Amino acid sequence: MNNLTPSELVLMKKACQITRDALLYCEKLIRPGISTKDLDILVEKYIINCGGYPACKGYEGFPASICSSVNDMVVHGIPSKDVILKEGDIISIDLVVNYKGLNGDAARTFPVGKISPEKAKLIEVTKQCFFEGIKNLKVGHRLGEVSHAIQEYAEKNGYSVVRELVGHGIGKSMHEPPNVPNYGKVTDGPIITNNACLAIEPMINMGRKEVWLIEDGWGVVTRDGKPSAHYENTVHVTKNGVEILTL
Ligand code: MF3
Ligand code: CO
Repeated sequence: MNNLTPSELVLMKKACQITRDALLYCEKLIRPGISTKDLDILVEKYIINCGGYPACKGYEGFPASICSSVNDMVVHGIPSKDVILKEGDIISIDLVVNYKGLNGDAARTFPVGKISPEKAKLIEVTKQCFFEGIKNLKVGHRLGEVSHAIQEYAEKNGYSVVRELVGHGIGKSMHEPPNVPNYGKVTDGPIITNNACLAIEPMINMGRKEVWLIEDGWGVVTRDGKPSAHYENTVHVTKNGVEILTL
């Protein structure tokens, strides 16, 4: 787990603020009729105007600045002019901002116009999974306590947890150790250390947990075709508690 210097932490916080603001900006753009490619172009400009770099772009060949995943797509959707949002869709936006070498990572699932109560509940429960998880994020405790709390809350609500994708440490790199699964036992994982930055990101399916990768090599969709939601923040944990840097 990382342990940034005070001056690195200042940059980390700035990266996370731009991440948060870019998501708020994106939320305002979301409406029926807009394409995910248009969202990508506008959000990229926004991030660059803020002095950040959209770190997804070029990451292992990812071609865009945001991940835009509609309905049954769990994560890593490539923005496209052919994906046009319509009333009743849900869209997960995931983005990473690099600011002077430090990274902020966050995701939200947004409604497009009026959505069904079932989809609205999925979004709310997925968000609450994150908060149930971080109640258990404490220096000296095991990371598995966070993972377990997320899984328990999702399953209690009749949903399932994606296994193939997990949260992660974050800092000078987008992905650092440790993995932060959204499932597991309280005795799993490393002991949480002071001054660590983590991206905690429940990915919750309305139906079954199984997913597969689509032909573009990026998009991950549910096998049963039911909707999925994502909620992610970058957090900083110290002996004094948890600070959510991307809220
Ligand atoms: N938040 C995503 C993750 O942690 C960011 C992916 S960027 C991409 O995996 F380029 F890989 F899409
Ligand atoms: Co992430």
